[in-house]
Amino acid sequence: MGYIIGKSVYIISSSVDIFGCICHTFGMIIDKSLVVALIESALSADYTGVRRIGGQIAKGLAEQNDIDGAKALQSLLRKRGVPLQASGYAESLPRDAASRLPLIEEGQWPTTPVMLNGESGGTISQFIEDAEHIELLAEKGVSSRLGLLLYGPPGTGKTLLAGHIAASLKRPFYIARLDSLISSRLGETAKNIRGIFEFVPARNAVLFLDEMDAIAKLRDDRHELGELKRVVNTVLQGLDSLTDDVVTIGATNHPHLLDPAIWRRFPYKVNLGLPDENVRASLWLHFLFQGDMSRKEDTQLLARASEGLNGADVENIALAARRRSVLGNQEPSLAQILLAAQGSRAGNPRLLDNRELDTADKKALTIFLHEKGGARQAEIARIVGVSRQMVHRYLRKVSDG
Ligand SMILES: Nc1ncnc2c1ncn2[C@@H]1O[C@H](COP(=O)(O)OP(=O)(O)O)[C@@H](O)[C@H]1O
Ligand SMILES: [Mg+2]
Repeated sequence: MGYIIGKSVYIISSSVDIFGCICHTFGMIIDKSLVVALIESALSADYTGVRRIGGQIAKGLAEQNDIDGAKALQSLLRKRGVPLQASGYAESLPRDAASRLPLIEEGQWPTTPVMLNGESGGTISQFIEDAEHIELLAEKGVSSRLGLLLYGPPGTGKTLLAGHIAASLKRPFYIARLDSLISSRLGETAKNIRGIFEFVPARNAVLFLDEMDAIAKLRDDRHELGELKRVVNTVLQGLDSLTDDVVTIGATNHPHLLDPAIWRRFPYKVNLGLPDENVRASLWLHFLFQGDMSRKEDTQLLARASEGLNGADVENIALAARRRSVLGNQEPSLAQILLAAQGSRAGNPRLLDNRELDTADKKALTIFLHEKGGARQAEIARIVGVSRQMVHRYLRKVSDG
């Protein structure tokens, strides 16, 4: 799949191969072997299996553009499997001794694509290729540990990307948030960390260590310094205990807080910075216009005007706009969406609605489009809904101070 409007945007929407053998059910196409595997898992109370295959089917639906079907199935999969629980079965995930909360959870393969710039996309494809051919690489003596570190500001798609890598490799996706492993009880934290490193290897899974910098927070006064060292060592031992074929993905918003020895354990590193203009264009096109290329010009204007926003910001504004068009029978104007982008950039999110702009809004939007959107005066007049003379006047007031 893919619609690329800028150059060098990578769109990974790890496709599941579901078109091998085909049966038609309720107008959708599913691989017969998936149905067989699903029933087998269900009857043997293999909770993880049911979730995984259910996830594959949801992904298949999404790829056949049955988004509602995919969402419905996914929300079903998020439930904790009542029939299996009733049968006395519960997956034995490692748990924190004090809180009894699971230390790790199985994440779902994502159904929305991730947009990356060319450089990050290249590293990721290489990582996936290496992981797929790890046996050959090991045989030739050139394999390396399959550790990938994703770092960059929040909301840039690290978690989403990790899920895509698991999906591309068709492996279960286990998420451990390091901050939730930190226990107030002395010694428990190290035990929790050991628990996850012992749990994953037998499962041919992708282990995702989210919020890796959480360990550094142990450097506060509630914890003794020795504990921080012990915990870092436990993580290092855990990483070293994994064989080369185990895929480990770490994520952090604060790479500088990460212990250098941990940093070195991840041979592949990708800096997921804020999206560039091309990536922002792909994000707007996907989240707001659902790939409708006839909206290319609006997409490009939005991309120019939304510098500094991350993928999650774009998604939030786009979904708010689409909600208003569903419930309000009228699509919010491009002007409203641009104002929301401007507010988000400035750190004061603005309620998105389909009301008329007042004079203050018109002025603010004119100046914003002129300064940040690189728009010509005629274009500004059209978007803001004022005359060109008015645009001229608004801009002159600014330059006059
Ligand atoms: N590069 C991107 N491509 C597509 N969607 C994105 C991207 N970045 C963020 N998003 C959207 O924002 C949501 C939150 O991103 P997330 O993966 O949780 O970011 P992070 O883990 O870096 O904080 C994602 O689920 C996705 O919908
Ligand atoms: Mg995340």
